[in-house]
Amino acid sequence: MVSTTKENIDANRQKVMQRLRSEHTYIATLREAMSVEINKLKRRTEPDLVMLRDMLRYLMEYPDVHHHPLEDQLFAKLVTHKDGVRSEVLELLAEHKDLARESLHLYHKLDALVLGDEKLQKNLLRASLTDFLELYGEHVRREETIVFPAAETLLSPEEWRDIARKLHTIDDPVFGMNVSEQYARLRRRISEGVDTAVANVVISELLGLYALIDAFGAVSEGAEELIAFNSQQLRDFKRENRILFSDSDSVAEAMSNAIKVNRRLIEKGWSQHFEIMKKTARAAYLPFAENAGAIVSFNVRG
Ligand SMILES: [Fe+2]
Ligand SMILES: [Fe+2]
Repeated sequence: MVSTTKENIDANRQKVMQRLRSEHTYIATLREAMSVEINKLKRRTEPDLVMLRDMLRYLMEYPDVHHHPLEDQLFAKLVTHKDGVRSEVLELLAEHKDLARESLHLYHKLDALVLGDEKLQKNLLRASLTDFLELYGEHVRREETIVFPAAETLLSPEEWRDIARKLHTIDDPVFGMNVSEQYARLRRRISEGVDTAVANVVISELLGLYALIDAFGAVSEGAEELIAFNSQQLRDFKRENRILFSDSDSVAEAMSNAIKVNRRLIEKGWSQHFEIMKKTARAAYLPFAENAGAIVSFNVRG
């Protein structure tokens, strides 16, 4: 039988890592939505500058204020471990400052354009925004593949307890339960996701459910399973659609095949998704009974 101490150690580690990985899912979704707008700068289509500005504001007000400081705490502990990933961690710490500075710079630039104070130089703007997104993507990739696994191996139970103790509930204004008025338009765009890919529609539908899991502080096992499953599903969507479009002789043929393949993936996705959610909701419901109305409706049927 697993001891209580071991359970506490695991719970602290899972709580912190679940939060960080959920936030990476949010950041990845936002980056994809930003790419769609940035790509309009390549074509004749006008980018939605207000939307781009709101996206940068979200990055400044949430990841810069909550996500990066939480990582900073974890990184500060990790650099004290001799055989760790010290140089990588120091670079990532510095990049948190670079990302915040660049977000602010681009935000002011877009704000001036929105107000008509500056002339739109499409190429320059596209290059700066693309560089920024690449830096962000690479930063998150190194955290996921190098630093987080090292932290999970090296940090002591006391260190996880210290970090977990300072965690506080964050109601994310775009991906959370209560969308704030100032981000309502951005939330709608992210939820629609219609101009990116079928995969994004499915994934964005799940965002509210991720938030629900976060809100109940729940059940990292189910949440991690769900995130892992959906990441895999997104990879499957991208891979299968890429193959379809490269192997088809015409757009019509590609579209017809894509509909069949995506329907199958969506069906598989939803059935698997609900299995995990039912399991997770049961565990989440028990300690938070009076607040759990939203998830009970399918929990009791399951
Ligand atoms: Fe980071
Ligand atoms: Fe991060």
